[in-house]
Amino acid sequence: MKMSEFAKRRQRLLHMLGPGSIAILPAAPERIRSRDVEHPYRADSDFFYLTGFPEPEAVVVLIPGRKQGQFVLFCRERDPEMETWNGRRAGLEGAMERFGADDAFPISDIDDILPGLMENKARVYYSMGTHPDLDQHMIEWLNQVRKKARSGVHAPGEFVSLDHLLHEMRLIKSAAEIQKMKKAAKVSAKAHCRAMQLCQPGLMEYQLEAELLHYFMVNGCRHAAYPAIVGGGENGCILHYTENESELQGGDLVLIDAGGEYDNYAADITRTFPVNGKFNPAQKALYEIVLAAQHAAIDKVQPGNHWDEPHKAAVKVLTKGLIKLGLLKGTPAKLIKEEAYRRFYMHRTGHWLGMDVHDVGDYKLDGEWRLFEPGMVLTVEPGLYIAPGSKGVAKKWWGIGIRIEDDVRVTRSGHEVLSSGVPKEVDEIEALMAREKRVAKKKVVKKKY
Ligand code: GLY
Ligand code: MN
Ligand code: MN
Repeated sequence: MKMSEFAKRRQRLLHMLGPGSIAILPAAPERIRSRDVEHPYRADSDFFYLTGFPEPEAVVVLIPGRKQGQFVLFCRERDPEMETWNGRRAGLEGAMERFGADDAFPISDIDDILPGLMENKARVYYSMGTHPDLDQHMIEWLNQVRKKARSGVHAPGEFVSLDHLLHEMRLIKSAAEIQKMKKAAKVSAKAHCRAMQLCQPGLMEYQLEAELLHYFMVNGCRHAAYPAIVGGGENGCILHYTENESELQGGDLVLIDAGGEYDNYAADITRTFPVNGKFNPAQKALYEIVLAAQHAAIDKVQPGNHWDEPHKAAVKVLTKGLIKLGLLKGTPAKLIKEEAYRRFYMHRTGHWLGMDVHDVGDYKLDGEWRLFEPGMVLTVEPGLYIAPGSKGVAKKWWGIGIRIEDDVRVTRSGHEVLSSGVPKEVDEIEALMAREKRVAKKKVVKKKY
């Protein structure tokens, strides 16, 4: 992302904050995986959205109208020895030259400097409770300013969460953001194709996961956007299954929910397909219902429609389909009202997508579902999950878990499916898997560990 994009975002936010205010936002902390090994560092999306600054131990401060500059960054100083051990740092100079900060201070001096920046401000934009380490400092800084009352210094009286303003900005994607999301979705769709092509009975679920991760990285997505779900057979009925440690069985479906992250923007795609390349009649019957529900839901993604319309469309198709197959009994209207479908469809049909996989932005405004607007990106992901041993359900349906998930951008005239590069129609999936069996059978490396 170009630095000018970050500068534009700060300008917009500074304008909204208005005079007499100060906004304070910390970088994400590093997190321990175990003992002295850390998880790979991922910047906090809010912080990165405004700065493009990729290091931990930093705090951005935005002060509308500040004469010496409105964009202040606290960060680590250069330190040759620490950098030899732990990696490069931008330092104060880098913060100003490369990241466009007007002023940069050592993070170690923040307790001395920040109270001064808060003096005579009416309002502090800070999301209390989100950063427990910083909350305590914030109270101390405020009390320091209050102590100066007799010298005529005003302490801020208003604390406002920054989330609302910032998240409304993040919800509507710019052209540059859409480009990143298109790339993430395109690479991820191809990764799913690769998984379909390489799938065969006897592979471990994590071996398919490995193929996805391999394709992400080879094609520019340095990280997955979230831990991949590769669930064979009844594992597909566990919504957040991430163990991925079972062997894939011929005759089962496999549900893969995986997306790459490109330049901090996520894709989130699910496909469900037969391990051996051919749907059996029961799998196909359920799959066609989920697919029809997904088509109906995607059709509702139009500017002016409201957030709940895709979900309602999906629920209608799913309920009617379940009645037709004998999995629900009653009239559609009554079953929908009673939410009878929730036994087999227990989640909603999507969420906002962006820098975070479950991205920010309100779903309701003033108590009403919000309307779709161009620049929003969401997932559409209906599913059906028939738990093994389901009472009153014929055995042939047991353990079938299906979800189909695409990434959809709202355009001025309708929508665009960003993840259309991976098939989802039954005949397309079977054709892709059959072609691959003919063409590349010898290339498949089946390893047991
Ligand atoms: N991958 C998480 C979700 O689909 O919401
Ligand atoms: Mn999703
Ligand atoms: Mn997903």
